[in-house]
Amino acid sequence: DIHVNTTVKGATVPATLHGIFFEEISHAGEGGLYAEMVQNRGFEDHVIPAGTRLENGWLQPFPAKPHFMLGQPSDWKMEWPVHSQWPAWHVENKGLQLSLATDHPLHPATPHALQVDITAMDTRNYPSLVNEGFWGMKITQGESYRLSLFADNVKGYTGKVTISLQSATGKVLADTTFSITSPASWQQYAAVLTAKESDPAGKLVLSFHNKGTLLLDMVSLFPVHTFRNRPNGMRNDLATLIARMKPAFVRWPGGCYVEGITVESAPDWKNTIGPLEQRVPTYSPWGYWSSNGFGYHEYLQFCEDINAAALYVFNVGISCEYRSGTFLPEDSLAPVIQNALDAIEYAIGPVTSRWGKVRAANGHPAPFPLKYVEVGNEQHGPAYAKRYNKFYDALHARYPQIGIIASMGIGDVNRHTLDSMQHTDIVDEHAYKDAGWSLRNFDHFDRYKRGNWKMYVGEYATNAGVGSGNLQAALSDAVYVMSMEKNADLVNMSSYAPLLVNEHDVDWPVNLIHFDAANSFARISYYALNLLNDHKASYNYPVTTTLQPEMLVKPRFSGGIGLATWDTEADYKDIVVVENKDTVYNSGKDPQWIDWLPVRGQWKKSGSILGQTAEGPQQLAILKDHHFNAYTLTLKARKTSGVN
Ligand code: AHR
Repeated sequence: DIHVNTTVKGATVPATLHGIFFEEISHAGEGGLYAEMVQNRGFEDHVIPAGTRLENGWLQPFPAKPHFMLGQPSDWKMEWPVHSQWPAWHVENKGLQLSLATDHPLHPATPHALQVDITAMDTRNYPSLVNEGFWGMKITQGESYRLSLFADNVKGYTGKVTISLQSATGKVLADTTFSITSPASWQQYAAVLTAKESDPAGKLVLSFHNKGTLLLDMVSLFPVHTFRNRPNGMRNDLATLIARMKPAFVRWPGGCYVEGITVESAPDWKNTIGPLEQRVPTYSPWGYWSSNGFGYHEYLQFCEDINAAALYVFNVGISCEYRSGTFLPEDSLAPVIQNALDAIEYAIGPVTSRWGKVRAANGHPAPFPLKYVEVGNEQHGPAYAKRYNKFYDALHARYPQIGIIASMGIGDVNRHTLDSMQHTDIVDEHAYKDAGWSLRNFDHFDRYKRGNWKMYVGEYATNAGVGSGNLQAALSDAVYVMSMEKNADLVNMSSYAPLLVNEHDVDWPVNLIHFDAANSFARISYYALNLLNDHKASYNYPVTTTLQPEMLVKPRFSGGIGLATWDTEADYKDIVVVENKDTVYNSGKDPQWIDWLPVRGQWKKSGSILGQTAEGPQQLAILKDHHFNAYTLTLKARKTSGVN
């Protein structure tokens, strides 16, 4: 039975409800939204990030995150390979040797250049240097491409260099030739190339006509037609898909990306503005380099272009915290706090201010639409609260108009976790759930304590049991959004995550928009969310439903060994083993499993009550028995109170 009370209006659903979350994950920006077609254009993509170390060709392993977020630990990148000294570049034809040079940098911030020694010459097959792009380059007949490179021939090369866009099989689609004459330090060479034919998997080829030694740096190729035709701009198809979402705001640049592998190597907005060759690249927990070409200024410009508010997330002096991350002591936060203040000043400060002046010099005297900042990502608890308070005080005193968002753990508003935070205007909760969770928990936000805070669901997605995203995921996501609308007095912002995935480097199981160098498409959740945004409810009426007294919860676990995980709410009290063909052990017996999360299951037979549950994720360890049997276990949650 469904009862709708039309005499009482719910809270107004805010215009800010639907935003987007951009993270530099799965090559979302580098080799994705950022339209640069040359991978590793500055030859910096091999350096070991500060604070990490290399062991047998691998960077120090990334500390794992708990299973419940993704299902299987193998979904995570546990290690970072260092493939090559010059990733994405290779040599074609004989007579060419490569090395990295640091004795003559184009700019000290990006100290490496590629030294090309041309030692032999075959004029039918010139020694050539090839950039593979981001798993290919999409070259389209009739389209024009802006080529730019820096060359330094103080080491002796004179002669011609032909630069061509070629198909995967080596057919020339467009080309130009530069003459490098008397020895000179760094010179920029630029041209616009128009393709005679198409290839979705093309490449950029530099062919050398003479012997000699040449230094190269910042080899770049952009389509002329970027989103809004901005130089150093965004890829049209992806930016258009994002703009179509009509997001109220854009959160940037992460995610774990913000946290960094170490504090020392975490992104710093000041490395992402100004001339491209002066931007120190960032190596992130997602296992690849960002050139920072899609930097803070470009991000703010993109927000303005799509009529969205900016929501900038900064590091709170703590890196990805699991085991080997690094952090700054609480009494050393002053420079980090100042850095956040400077970022705000860059975005909205007057042109007479230090950083407002830099913004104007970078081509944008008017303020950008920065409305929110977020203090860290996914950190919470008492230690975080102390940091947060310091940031809040400094930021709010200077910029009271900026919404300050606190990160928090799931359900923290119902605990006392927020008590140690002096001000919590907006709190950010993340929610990656399994299919159907939102249907079973439509009253999830109904149970949240109200206070003088609003809630931002900064990352959400149905991402377990739905492949790479399917109709079931879309329905679950849509119902989750409806539960936010129903609680519009509390939840006023949300963003699905992750937004983008390059099919060639998938860091996360379910994503909204897929692409490779040539194609892009959005998954069905994208259309569900657009539908909800385009036809947003103004308000909700209170609805009461009466359902069956029991409902089935489906634990997820692989094979017979693993963790069964499910969520439960306070009024689903008893978990009953309905069927148990074999042994189910409490995890306490195996130290391998206790490390992870508190496990509440016990050795039980069919029909017995497994345990009283608390709110939140529940787990049961299924360990191997002596015979390596497979198990079939069905659990039922018995509902003991409340109306669902
Ligand atoms: O969206 C992917 C990741 O999920 C984000 O980087 C992180 O914030 C969360 O754990």
